[in-house]
Amino acid sequence: MEPVKRITLIGGGLMGHGIGQEFACYGLEVSIFDDDPAIRETVLERIETNLVFMAKNHLIFEKKIKAILAAVQIHDTLEAAVENADVVIEAISENLPLKKGLFKHLDRVCPRNVILASNSSSFTPSQYAGSINYPDRVLGTHYFNPPYLIPLVEVVKGEKTGEKTLKTMIALLKGIGKRVVVVKKEVPGFIANRIQIALFREAFNVVEQGIASPEEVDMAIKSSFGRRLGVMGPFEQCDIIGADLKLSIYNALVPEIKSDTKPSRLLLRQIKAKKLGVKTGEGFYRWTKNSRKKRYERIQKALIAMNKMDNIFSESSGKNREPEDKGKKGK
Ligand code: NAI
Repeated sequence: MEPVKRITLIGGGLMGHGIGQEFACYGLEVSIFDDDPAIRETVLERIETNLVFMAKNHLIFEKKIKAILAAVQIHDTLEAAVENADVVIEAISENLPLKKGLFKHLDRVCPRNVILASNSSSFTPSQYAGSINYPDRVLGTHYFNPPYLIPLVEVVKGEKTGEKTLKTMIALLKGIGKRVVVVKKEVPGFIANRIQIALFREAFNVVEQGIASPEEVDMAIKSSFGRRLGVMGPFEQCDIIGADLKLSIYNALVPEIKSDTKPSRLLLRQIKAKKLGVKTGEGFYRWTKNSRKKRYERIQKALIAMNKMDNIFSESSGKNREPEDKGKKGK
């Protein structure tokens, strides 16, 4: 199997620039194309801001920032961006007709051996690439935001995804320190988002029913099982407390919690009142520039601390990564 050296990202928005940045951190060559010139103009600036943050937190050497940025090329056309690519990952908007059109186009312009991946949060390979000429080279690689701080990638195997495509992608992702799970069936939401949305439905329901306020729900989760979830999954927890006790709790609560498929009334009310959150300055909380910065910093610092505790960064020491126990040496 040829080693993968060149990655192309189609879409340089929130996810595309972060995914590209991560490959560049590990010494791969990265090309990015976005069809919006304004986005193209800011990609390198956004990556640099992230890299400075990472250097401050000793995740990369400060002196490597220039080299990492130099490994990222921004292109004005898709054709130029995919030239010489070994792997193309699309992170364009979550719109099925757009993604279908893009995969058809990529299938035509990329040589047969190039792997085509999608970061789609909900669509499956059969949906966006079922009818292209070579669907065996297509699969999903679902990252989480921010991709350079969240270790997991869900690799989504389509009905027609080839074994070689799957193996090459898994090796590539593991090689840059990602934790990989393979989603073996093409189901919407894959693994993590299915489970996450079940939690969100009940969280919104608890507030709608007047059982607790949004702040109280957030506090209850963050200070209880939320803490544990980063270190202990539901099956580990089930084994620890015992399947018999878990079944009693399950039987008592499952009939009580929300199970319908209607849109959340709470969310509809928020949208009607234009309380979209950070975007409009108010959601369940008030968001000023300052409060947003503070909250984001707190979240990022906590994610870094958890990754360090879980040895994520030492598992993944690429050539630009700062060795975990060396502190400021090598700056
Ligand atoms: P975004 O809106 O920040 O970025 C999408 C970019 O794609 C935009 O810059 C847009 O100009 C560009 N674009 C749209 N059509 C294009 C085309 N035909 N060719 C080239 N560029 C095009 O969106 P975001 O959040 O980065 O999401 C991208 C994908 O990643 C979506 O499929 C989304 O579902 C998925 N995703 C998003 C996550 C998130 O937390 N935002 C997490 C995991 C997956």
